[in-house]
Amino acid sequence: MHGLIFNQLEQFVTKNHGHAVWEQIEKASGSETPIFLPTKMYDDKFLFSILQAAEKTLNVPGDQILFSFGEYMAPQLIKIYSHSIKPEWTVIDLLEHTENTMHKAVRFADKLADPPKLNCKRIQSNAVEISYRSPRGIIAFGKGVISGFSKAYNQPLQIVQSQQGEATILRISMTKN
Ligand code: HEM
Repeated sequence: MHGLIFNQLEQFVTKNHGHAVWEQIEKASGSETPIFLPTKMYDDKFLFSILQAAEKTLNVPGDQILFSFGEYMAPQLIKIYSHSIKPEWTVIDLLEHTENTMHKAVRFADKLADPPKLNCKRIQSNAVEISYRSPRGIIAFGKGVISGFSKAYNQPLQIVQSQQGEATILRISMTKN
């Protein structure tokens, strides 16, 4: 997993709960956690051990942590990858281009990066369907990113989730402001 994710996770926990709590979580995660640099890649095992420790330490379910963390990261993703985002895009346009532009840019910038292969389809002028399939199984993070985009663009969205075999399907539509 990308070091950017770990680096932001540390910032997210520290901002909300203080540095001592982050250190407590790192300790409770059991494995010797490295110093996370946003330019390097780290084993996924660190994410899951940190998440498990955070669940216990903060007494919050993992999916809720992932969702809030995704919301926190959304504005940073928009900032970091602004060169790939067209200023005239609506939030639905941004979501439609997540795979062929954004995640593609991530893979291009770093050959070791491994964002999930999303299938993003425009299903109506104001709606998009995203199909997610990843061994990491952390769609809660993706839903948080979508919610964070919606807030950043000030364009309210409705998300309807369903399951088709191993794929999680999100139907996202713009609702009136
Ligand atoms: C500006 C748009 C976006 C950018 C720049 C971006 C970037 C990234 C990056 C850098 C990673 C880490 C990849 C790695 O560890 O190798 C990642 C992972 C991920 N992204 Fe995105 N992302 C964007 C939008 C989205 C959206 C809209 C979703 C909604 C489903 C999403 C879902 C995920 C998930 C679930 C992961 C975790 C890895 C996994 O489950 O396999 N991303 N993304």
